[in-house]
Amino acid sequence: MVIAIDGPAGSGKSTVSKLIAKRLGLLYIDTGAMYRALTLKAMRKSIDLHDEKSLVELAKTTKIELEEKSKLHVFLDGEDVSIPIRTPEVTAEVKYIARVPGVRHEMVALQRSIGSKQGAVLEGRDIGTVVFPNADYKFYLDASPEERAKRRLEDLVELGQKANVEEVKKDITARDESDMKRSVGALKKAKDAITIDTTVLSIDEVVDKLLARICR
Ligand code: DC
Repeated sequence: MVIAIDGPAGSGKSTVSKLIAKRLGLLYIDTGAMYRALTLKAMRKSIDLHDEKSLVELAKTTKIELEEKSKLHVFLDGEDVSIPIRTPEVTAEVKYIARVPGVRHEMVALQRSIGSKQGAVLEGRDIGTVVFPNADYKFYLDASPEERAKRRLEDLVELGQKANVEEVKKDITARDESDMKRSVGALKKAKDAITIDTTVLSIDEVVDKLLARICR
């Protein structure tokens, strides 16, 4: 079984996807973490983020692995980068990587190969539209920008980073725009996806709503 969960930053995708995967005994695949890991490598190697050819070459020669222990761990060429991929610096630069068609081609192939080996819950921006257009279930989670900023801020505080809600709101609004406007793999609701507005819902309520659809 493949479950696709798409939506903008702060819509609740990650938390909900992890819980759904656990409840159903499926693999959890955080596709944003893959784009983040590649961005981290490009930054460390000081690759010009406008040099598409080098970025595609980087994507082709990089090993990205996800491993679930008590938490999801992301490995970049064997190194655990679960923490450094979440810094604001990486978050700000992912858009340059995510907009390159050749990079997306590599990432999508990797996501399909992991997801089709065994059942999986994949979360991202283009899962229901591009990665698994024939997914068994497709969901699109959304929430108001204010609520999404509040949630992102809580995540950042948990990671020990400083930020204020206005800054975070500005950042996620800019990220929404670049995610929605890129020419490939844009953030878009699949025609057959079920939309859930999570603004006033608790995590448990969202999980229950999804499970009610899945277990029918
Ligand atoms: O889900 P996230 O915020 O960790 O994702 C980080 C960035 O990666 C996001 O701004 C857009 C990009 N992304 C993407 O282009 N396609 C995906 N399937 C997942 C994430």
